Amino acid sequence: MESDLSLEFLRVVEQAAVASAHTMGQGDRHKSDAAAVSAMRATLDTVPIEGTIVIGEGERDKAPMLYIGERVGMGTGDANGRYPKIDIAVDPLEGTNLCALGDSDAIAVLAASDEGGLLHAPDIYMDKLVVGPEAKHAVFLDAPVAHNLRGIAKSLNRRVEDLVVVVLNRPRHEALIREIRAVGARIRLIGDGDLSASIAAAVGGNGIHAVMGVGGAPEGVLTAAAMRCLNGEMFARLVVNSPEQEARCRQMGIADTKHVYTSEELAPSEAIIFAATGVTDGSLLKGVRFFGDGVRTNSLIMQTKPKRIRFIDTIHVKSTTDFKIRFF
Ligand code: FBP
Repeated sequence: MESDLSLEFLRVVEQAAVASAHTMGQGDRHKSDAAAVSAMRATLDTVPIEGTIVIGEGERDKAPMLYIGERVGMGTGDANGRYPKIDIAVDPLEGTNLCALGDSDAIAVLAASDEGGLLHAPDIYMDKLVVGPEAKHAVFLDAPVAHNLRGIAKSLNRRVEDLVVVVLNRPRHEALIREIRAVGARIRLIGDGDLSASIAAAVGGNGIHAVMGVGGAPEGVLTAAAMRCLNGEMFARLVVNSPEQEARCRQMGIADTKHVYTSEELAPSEAIIFAATGVTDGSLLKGVRFFGDGVRTNSLIMQTKPKRIRFIDTIHVKSTTDFKIRFF
């Protein structure tokens, strides 16, 4: 995939983040999501690609979405095939509640690959285990929680009691939380946003050592794309709760719904681009800041080919000849 597309995708997540940030704290998660979706869709259509959305979001919670199968980019309808064919996974606003409540860690996210480079997964749940590079060979999804935590602690050369595991604060995690507590590890319960937490777990120095539990499958594929860029690891299994979901999986080409995926299976492409912009302040990225003459955004752009991880701070100046920029 063309490496300079990364800056095009940067624009896409920046615009989605800015649009949703305008709705921060207004208590309307659908309005926040809709703002991010329409900005992302409009900006994607200015990118020189023949793009297909392979991971969209919103089926599960009836939110506005970029549909799976939707064509995006300048190459849509171009008969001459002048633009590269790119598969795209999106979560225009990861943490819609976080944005609507003005809480931390909402981000706008996208991952892209050459055709077939990202698993086509439906918007159902996924059981996940995410760790950073040091612990990637020390854990497995079906191993007992105590075994995984001891493995992570050993790889990080620290005591189990010094680990912090992020878990979504949901009733379905009661047993998992009990098991983690029984081993003595510390827990950070989050309201939303297991994708942001997973990225933080794979970047050292964030005080997060693993993410465990069930969250969205779209966020899971995006997490896998991020792990491919960060050399972290994710093990995951789809959670299929009904015959309809089983049928949806088969329709999307998933024959074995009990399979435990690695990040390389969820995001197999050798050429992945991952882009995220902070909407609200978070552990890794600052949120969008508005000031009189412009907007400031903080983003993370990662690629597997060439291997590159960039934190990008952008000031978007309003088109005027007389403006002031502050350092802050
Ligand atoms: P949204 O951005 O779609 O609101 O998703 C937030 C999120 O917390 C994800 O980070 C997580 O994977 C998923 O929702 C968990 O789903 P649920 O809220 O149904 O438990």
